[in-house]
Amino acid sequence: MTPELKSLRDTIEDALRHHLPVSSDHAQVLVDAMRYAALSGGKRIRPLLVCATCTGLGGNLENALAPACAVEFIHAYSLLHDDLPAMDDDDLRHGLPSGHIKFGEANAILAGDALLTLAFQTLATAPISRTDVRLTAIQLLAEAAGWQGMVGGQVFDMESENKQLSLSQLQTLHAGKTGALIRVSVQIGALFGNAKVDAETYVLLTEFASRIGLAFQIIDDVLDVTQSTEQLGKPAKSDQKAKKSTYTSLLGVRQARAQAEDLLSESLAMLKRAELEHDLLGELARTIVLRDH
Ligand code: IPE
Ligand code: IPE
Ligand code: MG
Ligand code: MG
Ligand code: MG
Repeated sequence: MTPELKSLRDTIEDALRHHLPVSSDHAQVLVDAMRYAALSGGKRIRPLLVCATCTGLGGNLENALAPACAVEFIHAYSLLHDDLPAMDDDDLRHGLPSGHIKFGEANAILAGDALLTLAFQTLATAPISRTDVRLTAIQLLAEAAGWQGMVGGQVFDMESENKQLSLSQLQTLHAGKTGALIRVSVQIGALFGNAKVDAETYVLLTEFASRIGLAFQIIDDVLDVTQSTEQLGKPAKSDQKAKKSTYTSLLGVRQARAQAEDLLSESLAMLKRAELEHDLLGELARTIVLRDH
């Protein structure tokens, strides 16, 4: 990660801290579990995408921070639930005990619920004068996070255990469980960066995000089998253990990686056409595909 991206990530960390509750008279454990899930590490790829897209279009970083936090709260809740015994049953996240190990299952479920609602509260109260932008962003985030997006993809993922999916089915699965939130990060970043963004740029950015979102999940599938638990901070070979359909189970590591690299090239071409290739977004796209954890 370049120093510029690292510094942006630090700004995002501060904003996340700022938007999270600190204390509660009657539900301190809930607040503690929310903070644990949202502040214990993570690459912050989605909020970085929101911020880099916003500033890439000439917008003010300050405007991007609330929506960036909103998307990351959804992501943090999705991981909290993803690790539960009823789902992937993973005990480690970010090198620490998963939320349900640390706080118990009920509190992990409820902290996830609270992060989900906090996301929409954060977006609804984002400091931007244009109500129409806020409303559109809320609608886009709801679609990306819910049954048509991430949650739907998670169900598809669970249902595909012990089955052999086709490559096109797996693409649909990944587009939901991971792609939707990555795509909406870029779309919301664009709207907050320039409420009047032209249709062509918006479409190019959406195409960029769809490709980088799929590449992101392909690499997640690859790292599951190539990296150690220590390196990942989450249990290695979790997908194999659960007999998930993944890019590596379907194509093998080499071909999966090659597909991710092709998607990276295509996504950079989209940025070039949108005249954004020299911006932070390109650097972020490379980081997403060439990462080792
Ligand atoms: C992990 O996402 C979950 C997937 C969608 C594959 P990240 O790899 O972005 O998780 P953190 O936040 O950086 O830990
Ligand atoms: C999780 O995908 C995606 C969401 C949480 C929406 P994975 O199950 O592959 O994520 P990891 O590998 O546990 O981080
Ligand atoms: Mg999962
Ligand atoms: Mg998982
Ligand atoms: Mg995974």
